Amino acid sequence: PPALPSLWGIPLKYLSLVTLAVQNSALTIVMHYSRVSTPPSRTYSAATAVLMNEILKGTISLAIAFLRIDSSLVAYENAQAPYVPPRPFTGRVLRRLRRLSREVFSQDCWKLSIPAILYVIQNNLQYVAASNLEAATFQVTYQMKILTTAAFSVILLRKKLSTSQWLSLLFLAIGVGIVQIQAGIDKAASEGSAAASLESPSMNPMKGFIAVVAACFTSGLAGVYFEMVLKNSQADLWVRNIQLSLFSLLPALGPVMFNQHANTSQAGGSFISALFENFGAWAWATVLVQVLGGLVTAMVIKYSDNILKGFATSLSIVMSFLASVALFDFKMTITFVLGSAVVLIATWLYNQNPTRVNVMMSRESWM
Ligand code: C5P
Repeated sequence: PPALPSLWGIPLKYLSLVTLAVQNSALTIVMHYSRVSTPPSRTYSAATAVLMNEILKGTISLAIAFLRIDSSLVAYENAQAPYVPPRPFTGRVLRRLRRLSREVFSQDCWKLSIPAILYVIQNNLQYVAASNLEAATFQVTYQMKILTTAAFSVILLRKKLSTSQWLSLLFLAIGVGIVQIQAGIDKAASEGSAAASLESPSMNPMKGFIAVVAACFTSGLAGVYFEMVLKNSQADLWVRNIQLSLFSLLPALGPVMFNQHANTSQAGGSFISALFENFGAWAWATVLVQVLGGLVTAMVIKYSDNILKGFATSLSIVMSFLASVALFDFKMTITFVLGSAVVLIATWLYNQNPTRVNVMMSRESWM
């Protein structure tokens, strides 16, 4: 069998899964802290963060695709004509750029517009959720992504689920429900007590919950759609990422323009300064962790699939729990531990003997 693609001798499949688990818990913590450590009136713009995420991710994907096209071009030219006279440096760069742009603006590039719009909505919703829920509550509730991913896999990829997998999905919903009840009790208790925690006064768990549920839908649909586009064509992963980022720019710019119009006229400052108002180290840290997440998610979908992705993120729950207890004075109650245990067991059960996804389908059957 052909060797798995690897980096420093470690197969990319496992490297990307472990990186995703660590990234997921880091993102939950960093994003939550960046939102609640300042009063809402002095927080940074989530729309700017989402836009920066897309620009950075697109630029990195562009650089990787450029370097990769380099070697494929040489191989192609060697196959076409054994002797290629040396060209000046600028000529070579231009040639590669032309070839890359042909690949990026391919006939089927429009397909990426669907996951692009969905991911932009999801990335904005994540900020709403992180601002209104405890870090660990957010993470557990976000596990409902497994449910939506399964549903869209069944509908779009015509995947068959075993009885134990359906059962585990039911347990997942029950576990999330238990954690939500816990969050409600916490909120009621903190409203009644003088010793309210740092984040409780400005948090609205119901708003956070609705945002997570909506984000779970976009996550499932976008993930399955991206997997389908990626595995149904020969195009390079990094070229697909560039296309995804390009299509994200417009929807990501929308909320930025909308917000800035109000802000600039209010503050009377320049457009750029209004864009980056209160955009401190924690905001940039959130963006960077999210950029890493985007790149690693793409690799996980390519080298594994959306099911294993769910497994990796459930591992990150345990990491976030421990970090939340240490950093945010998060109180672990019996209800919370019970709900989270149910979610974890459900995830484990779901991943027992996962059925293969039939991604090699004809275009007509899904377009
Ligand atoms: O929660 P979920 O796993 O669906 O999150 C996916 C995240 O990864 C989103 O923030 C999305 O913008 C990003 N992503 C990406 N490139 C891909 C696939 C996902 O940046 N090819």
